[in-house]
Amino acid sequence: GLPSRVRIHEVGARDGLQNEKSTVPVDVKAEFVHRLASAGLTTVEATSFVHPKWVPQLADAEELFPRLADLREQGVRLPVLVPNARGLERALALGADRVAIFASVTESFAKANLNRTVDESLAVFAPVVAEAKAAGAHVRGYLSMCFGDPWEGPVPVERVVGVAKALEAMGCDELSLGDTIGVATAGHVRALLTALTEAGVPLATLGVHFHDTYGQALANTLEALRMGVTTVDASAGGLGGCPFARSATGNLATEDLVWLLRGLGIETGVDLDSLVATSMWMAGHLGRPSPSRTVRALAGS
Ligand code: HMG
Ligand code: MG
Repeated sequence: GLPSRVRIHEVGARDGLQNEKSTVPVDVKAEFVHRLASAGLTTVEATSFVHPKWVPQLADAEELFPRLADLREQGVRLPVLVPNARGLERALALGADRVAIFASVTESFAKANLNRTVDESLAVFAPVVAEAKAAGAHVRGYLSMCFGDPWEGPVPVERVVGVAKALEAMGCDELSLGDTIGVATAGHVRALLTALTEAGVPLATLGVHFHDTYGQALANTLEALRMGVTTVDASAGGLGGCPFARSATGNLATEDLVWLLRGLGIETGVDLDSLVATSMWMAGHLGRPSPSRTVRALAGS
C-alpha cells in the first residue's frame, strides 16, 4: 500500500543553488527559504558549511543562517550540510540543530566531492556524528551515487548496504539514498530497498533522493513509496545538479512530486500554487526557466 502522508525534504536552497553558475545574493536566498516554508514545506535544507572554495555559491552560510531564526522558532526544520569537524563547529556556533553529513558509496565520487577515500571519509564523519549527537542535533546521513557513478558505472547494492550500515552504526538518525546522476530505474530501487531491509535498515528512517536525468524520478519515487518509504527529497522548480559529478542534472522537482502525491490523495501540507509562484520568482532571479513540467504547466494557468 501507499502511505497516507509523505514528508518532503526540500533541498532547492542547498542542492539546487550550489550548482548554479551565478551566486544568488543572500537576500534572495533568505526570501527563497521563507517562501518555501510559507508554501508549507516543513523541512527546508538551508545551506552548507563546506569549504567556500569548493562551493562558492554557498560561501555566505554564516550570513544566511541567522536570517532564518524566525523560521526555526516556528518549528520549520532547517538542516545544513557539514563535511567535517570544521563544518560542524561553524554550524553549531550559529545554533543549527539539524545537520547532514554526506558520504559517497563510490571511490571516484568520494575523491571528487570530499578529497578522501570512502573509508577516510567515514573516519572523518564518525566523530562529527558523535559530536553532533552529543550537542543534541539531529543527523541525516546522505549516501551519494547509490545507483550509478559517472566514472565507475552501475553500483552494486551491497556497496550501498555497507555504507548505510556504517552510517547507521555511527548514530545517524536518518539516511538519504542519493541517485546523484539520475540513472536509477524502478527495478533497481526495489532491489536496493529490498537489500537494505534484509540487512536490517528500517525503511522508516530512509529518504530517497532522485534526479530526473532520464525522466525516471517520479517512477522511482512511486516504487519507493510502495515499499514503505515516507520521506522524499525534492528541489523546488527542479533546481540543481552536482558540481562535482559530470552528467548530473536536476533533482526531482518538488512541484512534480506534489502533483503526483496530490493525485494519490497523499498529504504533504504543501500549497502547490504558492510553490509554483516561488519557483517562477526564483527562475526570474536565475535568468532561466524552471525545468519542472508541473511548474511550466501551471505557470500559465
Ligand atoms: P580538503 O581540501 O581536503 O580540506 O577538503 P582539508 O581538511 O585538507 O583542509 C584544508 C583547508 O580547508 C584548511 O584551511 C581547513 O581549515 C579548511 P587552512 O588550514 O589550509 O587555512 N576547511 C574548511 N573551511 C571551512 N569550512 C569547512 C572546512 N573544512 C576544511 N567545512 C572538504 C575537504 C571536505 C573540506 C572539501 O572537499 C569540501 O568542502 N567538500 C564539499 C563538497 C560539497 O559540498 N559537495 C556538494 C555536496 S554533496 C552532494 O551534492 C550530493 C547530495 O546532494 C546527494 C545527491 O544529490 O545525490 C548530498
Ligand atoms: Mg541532489
